[in-house]
Amino acid sequence: MCGIIGYVGKAEATPILLEGLRRLEYRGYDSSGVAILSDSASGEGSDIQTRKRSGRLDNLRTLLTENPAAGHCGISHTRWATHGEATDENAHPHLDQSGKLAMVHNGVIENYQVLKDHLEEEGHIFHSQTDSEVLAHLVGNAYEASTEKDQRRRLVEAVREALHLVSGTYGIVAMHEDSPGFLVGARFGSPLVVGLGKGEKFLASDVGAIVSHTTDAIYLRDRDLVWLTEDDFAIENVDGDAAEYEVSTVDFTPEQAEKGDYPHYMLKEIFEQPTSIQNAFRGRLVDDQASAILGGLGLTPRELRDVDRIVLCGCGTASHAAMVGEYLIEHLARIPTEVEIASEFRYRNPPLDKNTLVFVLSQSGETIDTLAAMREGQRKGHRVLGIVNSVGSTIARESDGGSYLYSGPEIGVAATKSFTSQVTLLTLLAILLGRMRHLSVDAGQQMLKELRDLPAKVGKILSQSEHIRQIALKYLDAKGMLFLGRQFNYPTALEGALKMKEISYIFASGHAAAELKHGIIALVSEETPSVFIMPKDSVYEKNVSTLEEVKARKGPVIAVTTEGSTELERIADDVIYIPPVSEMLSPILSVIPLQLLSYHFSVALGCDVDKPRNLAKSVTVE
Ligand code: F6R
Repeated sequence: MCGIIGYVGKAEATPILLEGLRRLEYRGYDSSGVAILSDSASGEGSDIQTRKRSGRLDNLRTLLTENPAAGHCGISHTRWATHGEATDENAHPHLDQSGKLAMVHNGVIENYQVLKDHLEEEGHIFHSQTDSEVLAHLVGNAYEASTEKDQRRRLVEAVREALHLVSGTYGIVAMHEDSPGFLVGARFGSPLVVGLGKGEKFLASDVGAIVSHTTDAIYLRDRDLVWLTEDDFAIENVDGDAAEYEVSTVDFTPEQAEKGDYPHYMLKEIFEQPTSIQNAFRGRLVDDQASAILGGLGLTPRELRDVDRIVLCGCGTASHAAMVGEYLIEHLARIPTEVEIASEFRYRNPPLDKNTLVFVLSQSGETIDTLAAMREGQRKGHRVLGIVNSVGSTIARESDGGSYLYSGPEIGVAATKSFTSQVTLLTLLAILLGRMRHLSVDAGQQMLKELRDLPAKVGKILSQSEHIRQIALKYLDAKGMLFLGRQFNYPTALEGALKMKEISYIFASGHAAAELKHGIIALVSEETPSVFIMPKDSVYEKNVSTLEEVKARKGPVIAVTTEGSTELERIADDVIYIPPVSEMLSPILSVIPLQLLSYHFSVALGCDVDKPRNLAKSVTVE
């Protein structure tokens, strides 16, 4: 949430920062700003020039065209508001009391009000309602009070001192007029990555912002503090001790993080699913054992054999994938499995036995609640494994092992390909655990074959995009929508409803179809279409009965079913077909028409598909 990029080097900073912000805009997009440190002319000091605008990044671009800011060192930010509305004043960067220090901040300073009151008593004047401006003033205060002669050191120490006064989370970058060509950053709870270019350095909240300049990156750890010049850098921790670090190579290309010919990232990512699903199982199917291999788990066969309970933890779409995983693992491996919403798990103090295996699922690897749930499990002495997409993310680094999705960057705010990849990975886990228990060779082989067949089947569904668009156009006046499914497709119904809400702003709710009669049926009307996810499976007939009940009350019905179930054309208003597939894997196919349906609704209603209102990708604040 919120994007940061800072630059120091030989090039003009503004174009680099604007380009970085464009790549980061999915992390927050209600306002943006830059601060550029002008180069010191001989005999004169540098000046900080700040440009900020509420609204989309284009507003800032226009401002910088009218009123350029030149210099080779700068910081910038794209905001998702927490404290204070999306106004020019609340946009980052913020200055300290002297106006000589600028700072960008991600995260939340929880004790900001007490600190602000205190600073105001000392005569500080604030120009925004943000917690972040308070942190800038605190650093400025420490800087002014310092007797350190070396101005760079003085800035580093001032940042350190101020960070000891705050509680909450931060990813910050600061610069000072006294120290041209010098940036200081620090993180606690909000990601920050250092980019090492030749004669230039970067600090960003997300590696995607810098990948077009360098593929050498250092993912900072919590409590790391870094300073950078164009040729040098050092990483300490906020207590002043040297910190260990590792230089990683970014695992994707700038092109992968672009829309290409697609009008939206979301559509691109929906259409990438034949490949992303394949990437999730590639190299992990073991034919001669009719099983799967997930080497990153780091568990011995005996340890896996001893697992007698599994907890799957995540938020939003990841929790829906986990629910499919619960059905899969219980079905194939007969191990009791529970899904925990990460934000609940972290505060609920759940009992975990010795043989309980905990997984956290996260596309970004940065979701604060999922991260906290992981740490809570680890604090209890448990090994917590991660199922993560973003390589180098905090969950990937801090978990005790796990598996990557290898989906490539997911930039559309609505999660799509990460869901199908998470379900694919959980299928591999279920097969692996199942084959250690009761799953037969034949059943294992059948599952491997089904997995291999998925990409082509997904391709077939994608070719119906226009048909699905036509269906969407019929229901644009809907007052609300119901998504109904049973068993493996109950989580798919929840996911379909979430997609519809977040990008089309149509109120939608997902339910276990049999729950309809227990209250939800009161919502059925001519203006509230129901989407039934009802492949030809063991509960198909039950779904048909429920569908009839909706039709009997004049509720329009869109049915997602298996090819050949043509009888539904007589009762449903619209039918979308998916290829035949095992019941257990059907969510991977049935979710795709729902992704496309919400996408086409969103476009037709004129919504901003990739930047839905009030949302941002990667929820790094509570
Ligand atoms: C929905 C969506 C969110 C995320 C959730 C978890 O489309 O994108 O519900 O799924 O915020 O995010 P990750 O997987 O990054 O932990």
